[in-house]
Amino acid sequence: MSLKDELKQDRLPSHVAIIMDGNGRWAKKRGNSRMFGHKHGVTAVREVTESAAELGINFLTLYAFSTENWSRPKTEVDALMSLLVSTISSETSTLMKNNVKLNAIGCTESLPSSVQAKLDTCIQKTSANTGLTLTLALSYSSRWEIIEAVKQIAADVKDNQLNIDDISADVISNRMATSGIPDPELMIRTSGEHRISNFLLWQLAYSELYFCDILWPDFRRDDFYRALLDFQGRERRFGKTGDQIKK
Ligand code: IPE
Ligand code: IPE
Ligand code: MG
Repeated sequence: MSLKDELKQDRLPSHVAIIMDGNGRWAKKRGNSRMFGHKHGVTAVREVTESAAELGINFLTLYAFSTENWSRPKTEVDALMSLLVSTISSETSTLMKNNVKLNAIGCTESLPSSVQAKLDTCIQKTSANTGLTLTLALSYSSRWEIIEAVKQIAADVKDNQLNIDDISADVISNRMATSGIPDPELMIRTSGEHRISNFLLWQLAYSELYFCDILWPDFRRDDFYRALLDFQGRERRFGKTGDQIKK
């Protein structure tokens, strides 16, 4: 039986978030430049997107470039931005073929205009697709997102649009960049690093976390199925006792 066949269709997460890490180390191991790893990471993005779409997962969120990644050497940042432009162009047909709708979260205004233009075009082109929603976190950090949400809430209170007593978890969720998207049930990070790196801090409150040593360019469908199988073997308790959950 293949790993895919072992998955229980009725227990798939509706939202999976991934910190795609390890491109640089993958390239270095091969005596190549870090960009070589980023380029090969595109194959993994395609594989995971296609398999999530095939499985009927509703939301896939990929951490592609963090606010902190702007501090990398300019040559790497520039090359990553060019890679984004070429990848969005070349992969639009894959998204269309798989009925995937593209979305982006983050401070996208800080991206070069060439990236913004390609993103806008692809988001527009895929907007009527009804399958998986693929969200790219670009120039994204969770603290940036929380600061933006707090500013909006403060402005609404100041303008008498919102009472302080009405500020709830839902009000905050609705001010996040992920508004309208359920919190991820599963968060995967590759490359052996065990940290969150400023990704979806609010939304990951009760997510199952899955860490694997595989470097992102090597991540394939079976690795994704393994993460989903591991998720399906877990008991999500949300503060309750195990006995309460089993009832
Ligand atoms: C992830 O791989 C891609 C981005 C953060 C853009 P890295 O570039 O972080 O690769 P490592 O962690 O240095 O190996
Ligand atoms: C997190 O990876 C950001 C992305 C995958 C886009 P990093 O490689 O930047 O994270 P740290 O700095 O090692 O925590
Ligand atoms: Mg890294």
